[in-house]
Amino acid sequence: MSGIFSRTPKETEADAVYNPEGMIPVHVGIIMDGNGRWARSRGMPRAAGHRAGTKNIRRVLIEAVEIGIKALTVYAFSTENWARPKDEVNHLMRLISQGIRDELDELDARGVRILHSGRTAGVSESLQAEISEAVERTRQNDVITLNVAFNYGGRAEIVDAIKAIMQAGVRAEDVTEEMVSQHLYTPDLPDPDLIIRTGGEFRLSNFLIWQAAYAEFYSTPTYWPDFDEVELRKAVAVFQHRDRRFGKIKDTER
Ligand code: FPP
Repeated sequence: MSGIFSRTPKETEADAVYNPEGMIPVHVGIIMDGNGRWARSRGMPRAAGHRAGTKNIRRVLIEAVEIGIKALTVYAFSTENWARPKDEVNHLMRLISQGIRDELDELDARGVRILHSGRTAGVSESLQAEISEAVERTRQNDVITLNVAFNYGGRAEIVDAIKAIMQAGVRAEDVTEEMVSQHLYTPDLPDPDLIIRTGGEFRLSNFLIWQAAYAEFYSTPTYWPDFDEVELRKAVAVFQHRDRRFGKIKDTER
């Protein structure tokens, strides 16, 4: 059926039910927003929100494996986040370092491959070493990929790709989209099928801006520390109700 009254996306999305046999997104990106508001709503300091947010990655990762998602990219620290108060920046750095130290053994045992998307400049040498060790140690794992977007900016990533292409001496007329994709931080990850943003905003905020060209976007008001297994299934259910066209029209509409 066609026509503007045939489909009311809001209704169908509210009613969307997760189907384990349905289309499963291979790669899901998550903008983990709302840690500060989660803490404030409980009368706690922002740092407590970031701690709860860090813990929540484990819960969502385990559920992602259950669902059959093969890669998760989590937006842990953007190039713009350096502008936050120094205390908060230091706390986020410590959380990432501690998160790696506390979780690496279990992540490795569960078959999680860790990747890093982002620049190293500005990151302490010790944290750089910890990230490299996590990536090296889990290189052969294949249950799921956890790509940590840390000191990450989508525009910076594209600039870095252009620099690499120019440094390789490629002629302007030979530059292709495929070539740009291959020079991004994680060339072996497929483009995300689904981008989830918690905390109620409807922005990409410089997250995977090249790769998200055809991603489905899902926003929920739920704050990141409260985004649980049920919420992840709901996001996948909505994804399953979307009509992905990749810029084309459907055969039935020809
Ligand atoms: C947004 O909440 C969240 C962040 C800026 C940081 C997210 C980082 C983590 C959860 C830690 C990641 C750790 C590892 C080990 C990968 P906000 O502070 O902007 O919340 P608000 O919008 O409510 O203020």
